[in-house]
Amino acid sequence: MPADWPRFDMSFLGGRRLRRLRQASWSRDMVRETVLTPADLIWPLFLIEGENERTPIRTMPGVERLSVDLAVEAARQAVDAGIPALALFPNTPDHLRSTGAEEAANPDNLMCRALSAIKEAVPGIGLIADTALDEYSANGQDGLVANGDILNDETVALMVRSALVQARAGADIIAPSDMMDGRIGALRRALDAEGFEATILMSYAAKYASCYYGPFREAVGSGKRLVGDKRTYQLDFANSDEAMREVAQDLEEGADMVMVKPGLIYLDIIRRVKDNFNVPVAAYQVSGEYAMISFAAAAGAFDRNAAMMESLWAFKRAGCDTILTYFALDAARTLAK
Ligand code: PBG
Repeated sequence: MPADWPRFDMSFLGGRRLRRLRQASWSRDMVRETVLTPADLIWPLFLIEGENERTPIRTMPGVERLSVDLAVEAARQAVDAGIPALALFPNTPDHLRSTGAEEAANPDNLMCRALSAIKEAVPGIGLIADTALDEYSANGQDGLVANGDILNDETVALMVRSALVQARAGADIIAPSDMMDGRIGALRRALDAEGFEATILMSYAAKYASCYYGPFREAVGSGKRLVGDKRTYQLDFANSDEAMREVAQDLEEGADMVMVKPGLIYLDIIRRVKDNFNVPVAAYQVSGEYAMISFAAAAGAFDRNAAMMESLWAFKRAGCDTILTYFALDAARTLAK
C-alpha cells in the first residue's frame, strides 16, 4: 500500500473483529458449529439380477447397478468406511413388471434376496428397504391406477404386503417413498401385528414432485415407462406449510423419522421440520443433485470433492441428522483421511 494512502479510523469496530477466530486452522476447528462424519451418511444402492453384474447409469457417472453378490461387497466397503446403513432400490426385470405390481409382494423378489444376502454376510449394517410400487409397476407410477386415477387405499394395501416380505427378508427400516395418505399408520399396524415391533419406519414425509428424480428413474428403469406425472401425490414445490402437515400426520401415525426430498433445493424445508418437530430428520440428496455436481465437476467448473463436501455440510447446517447420498462412500473415505 503506498505510504501516502490515508488509513481509515477503524475505531467504529470497537475491537470486534470476526476474522480473529478464522485466522488459523486450529481456531477454525475450535469454533466449528457442525460436524459431518461417516455415521451421518446413508448409501443408496441400485440392484440388478445376475451374478458379478454391474451396469453404468448414463446420467449418474460413477454410480452402477449391482447384482446381489456385488451389493454384498459394497456393504462390506460401507461398513469399513463407517457408513451405518444402505438404502436398496431394485431394477426389476421387465417381464416381472405389471399393471398390478404384484412382484412388490413376492417374498423372493430382487429386493428381498438382496436384503437377506446382505443381512447374512454383513450383519452389522442397517438395511433400508424402499417400499413403493414404481419399481414393479408397468407404468412407473407409485400407485395402482384405474381410469387414470391413483388408487390410494388399494396402493396402501399392496405396500403393506410388500413391506412385510421386506421385513421378513431382513429389512431393519421400511421407507415408504410413495406419498399415499395413511400408509404410515397402516404399515405400523401391520408390522406390529406380525411381530415386527422393532422395525423402524422412515417416512418420505415431505417428498416433492421433482424433475431432479430423472437419473434415478433411469437407474431403476421406471422413467421410460412413466405415464403422466406424480403431482396428485407428491408435493407441489411451491408449498412449505403443506409439508409441515405431511410431517405432522406421519409422526402421528407412527413414523420414527421423517425425510425431506430432494435435499439441496429444499434446505428451507429441512430447517422448518427440525425447528418445528425436534425429531430425527433425514434428507435425500437425490440423483439429479448428484448429476449436477458430477457433470459440473467433469466440465471443470469446480473440484468434485470440494463440491461434494460443501453440499453435504449444507445438510448438517440445515439441521439434518442423516443424509442419503450417492456420494456416501467417497465422502466417508474422504472424511477418514
Ligand atoms: C420412487 C422413488 C424415487 C426416488 C426414490 N424413490 C423417484 C420418484 O418418486 O419418481 C428418487 C431418488 C433419487 O432421485 O435419487 N418411489
